[in-house]
Amino acid sequence: MPTTLLQSNLPGLELIHRGKVRDVYALPGNRLLIVATDRLSAFDVVLPDPIPGKGEMLAQISNFWFGKTAHIVPNHLLHTPLEEVLPKGTDVALYSKRAVVTKHLKPVPVEAIARGYLIGSGWKDYQATGSLCGIKLPAGLRQAEQLPEPIFTPSTKAAVGDHDENVSFDAVVAAVGKDLAEQVRDATLAIYKWAAAYAAERGIIIADTKFEFGTDEHGKLYVMDEMLTPDSSRFWPADEYKVGISPPSYDKQFVRDYLETLGWNKKAPGPKVPAEVIAGTSAKYAEALHRLAGITLD
Ligand SMILES: Nc1ncnc2c1ncn2[C@@H]1O[C@H](COP(=O)(O)OP(=O)(O)OP(=O)(O)O)[C@@H](O)[C@H]1O
Ligand SMILES: [Mg+2]
Repeated sequence: MPTTLLQSNLPGLELIHRGKVRDVYALPGNRLLIVATDRLSAFDVVLPDPIPGKGEMLAQISNFWFGKTAHIVPNHLLHTPLEEVLPKGTDVALYSKRAVVTKHLKPVPVEAIARGYLIGSGWKDYQATGSLCGIKLPAGLRQAEQLPEPIFTPSTKAAVGDHDENVSFDAVVAAVGKDLAEQVRDATLAIYKWAAAYAAERGIIIADTKFEFGTDEHGKLYVMDEMLTPDSSRFWPADEYKVGISPPSYDKQFVRDYLETLGWNKKAPGPKVPAEVIAGTSAKYAEALHRLAGITLD
């Protein structure tokens, strides 16, 4: 059975951040312990109900992709056994599939998004302006249409409760400098292209995805946080893909679509989600984990 954890509790460790999904603890040696909980955020608001096992699935799928893409971009994972860092008396089983030990990096303050298809905020911006993050796109593209080639569409990291905002590549250069901006863009597109090809062989379209990067004390770039999960990506079953509609998906779009029916103003507190939507969401995560990574959580 997957475990359920809404909020971690690790007495003796210093909690430095409770994000929407992850609880982050400082470890000696400039390391972090990152715990993926079962919190679900949608439209940047954390919903009141946990999705059982979601954090385990997120951590497992991220670990899978970190491993698969390490030849393209180095990542934040350290392979320290959890038993070495969890406080004595911790229920190890509750944490073993959802926590990782990582390098403590300096975050690059940009959401590094790659898009292969026109959907979500990309579709909205394109309809309004014909462009996306300052990139002029061909006229006449339809919703969910594949782009001529994948593009880098960065956005700002918003504070809790705010929505991220798409920005131009030049804005990223202004924020972090040309060299780092180019490294982030190139790494984002390289990982996306590799992963999209991998997923395509398994009947899944990765419509878009978001990475976070950080640098170490030498300025070396690593991919961090989570990678190619249903929280950070839009996964579509290829056999149900159609241009012109928002395709059904393996990811949070399921719960987003439900929330869109409520007329909720997308501000905290988030609404309660019915049991069948929780179960359905959990099943989507499990299916993504299984189809992409071949992993079944027991
Ligand atoms: N290796 C790392 N070094 C430093 N920070 C990291 C590392 N990996 C992840 N993080 C940060 O840890 C946090 C993880 O929390 P989570 O994913 O829940 O955040 P979020 O909800 O996406 O964003 P926010 O932190 O704004 O709430 C993020 O702020 C992320 O940037
Ligand atoms: Mg995050």
